[in-house]
Amino acid sequence: MSGKVKVGIIGSQFEADIHAASFQIGSEEAEVVAVASPTPGHPETLARRYGIPRVFTDYRQMLLEKDIELVTIAAPNYLHAQMTLDCARAGKHVLCEKPLAMTIEEADEMVDVCRREGVLLLYAEELFFTPKYVKAKEMADQGAFGRVHLVKQSERHFGPHSPWFWDVGRSGGGVFMDMGCHGIAFCYWFLNRSPIRSVYCQMGTHVHGDKTRGEDESLCILEFESGAVGLVENSWAHRGGMDDRVEVHGEGGVTYANLHMGNALPTYSEYGYGYAVEKAPGTKGWSYPVFEELWNYGFPQEMRHFARCVRGKEEPIATGQDGRVVMEALFAGYASAAKGGKVCLPFQPPAGKKPIDLWLK
Ligand SMILES: NC(=O)c1ccc[n+]([C@@H]2O[C@H](COP(=O)([O-])OP(=O)(O)OC[C@H]3O[C@@H](n4cnc5c(N)ncnc54)[C@H](O)[C@@H]3O)[C@@H](O)[C@H]2O)c1
Repeated sequence: MSGKVKVGIIGSQFEADIHAASFQIGSEEAEVVAVASPTPGHPETLARRYGIPRVFTDYRQMLLEKDIELVTIAAPNYLHAQMTLDCARAGKHVLCEKPLAMTIEEADEMVDVCRREGVLLLYAEELFFTPKYVKAKEMADQGAFGRVHLVKQSERHFGPHSPWFWDVGRSGGGVFMDMGCHGIAFCYWFLNRSPIRSVYCQMGTHVHGDKTRGEDESLCILEFESGAVGLVENSWAHRGGMDDRVEVHGEGGVTYANLHMGNALPTYSEYGYGYAVEKAPGTKGWSYPVFEELWNYGFPQEMRHFARCVRGKEEPIATGQDGRVVMEALFAGYASAAKGGKVCLPFQPPAGKKPIDLWLK
């Protein structure tokens, strides 16, 4: 229980790369010693890029490594629950990507088993660590806006990079499941975990009906016990690369935080260049290149915090319990969109159902 926390990563693609890069940035607290992913060549490539010494094709083999203390799960949503249970039973602390699970029973079991096995269940919600958003919350907590009555969070792009996201059987839902989970978590955290009273949701598949049965646009209104309202806007039908924003409205003030465009360099290029921002289609013409993208999102800060939690130096600020709250609101959101009206919490979804099942006819 001293020295750097030894980490194993499950998965080797998009989010796994972010985990590896973020631990490397915060390398005084943790080191990634292993990666496990089933597609031959993929974990090796990640291992080479970040100097990770051990590579596995089966994550269960990785869990036999005694020195690994923390395992991060950067695999498709439908695998989160089984992987979490396997990690916990192997005595490893778990850092699970969002959304926590596919069903409410899975979420409950994950929280339960980790508690019984005495391991941490850390919920990878980086918006709790995004420096610009953390600043907005600090100001709100200092009273800058007086009584806050409305918090908005939006995330939009033109759709995810891997086929499994579009397959609701493996993802559990469309854009609301994929990115609405960030907005719900954000509003809940921002409003100091005031319980969610009700959820109202409107959703539709406007652009990508050829690719998915899931929704590619969603609007969600959350009512909190404090009286404040959260507005969560998400799209997979938005051109121009990732757009991520927050607004905070109070009786005494307001703040606007535009994560990418606000930090970017408004740029015109006739010829194009290497990379602008996540999911941007190109770099010719007008573009908004970001710098220090991972840091601006808060990923290295998140991984550093979680490593310090494993060492008992900090108390987790994003846990499986938060992920469970988000799951309940997701279910309520899909049920609301199906019935065309508000759904009150607590909300118990039908046993074994995925969030999208409550909306699909
Ligand atoms: N926090 C964020 O902002 C954020 C961003 C993107 C993705 N995510 C989440 O991260 C998770 C992974 O998404 P991604 O974008 O990296 O997807 P991806 O398709 O890019 O990568 C998925 C990885 O999982 C691996 N995998 C599949 N089956 C496996 C198995 N049985 N054992 C081990 N590995 C297996 C694949 O080989 C691949 O390496 C998802 O839950 C997603 O919602 C979070």
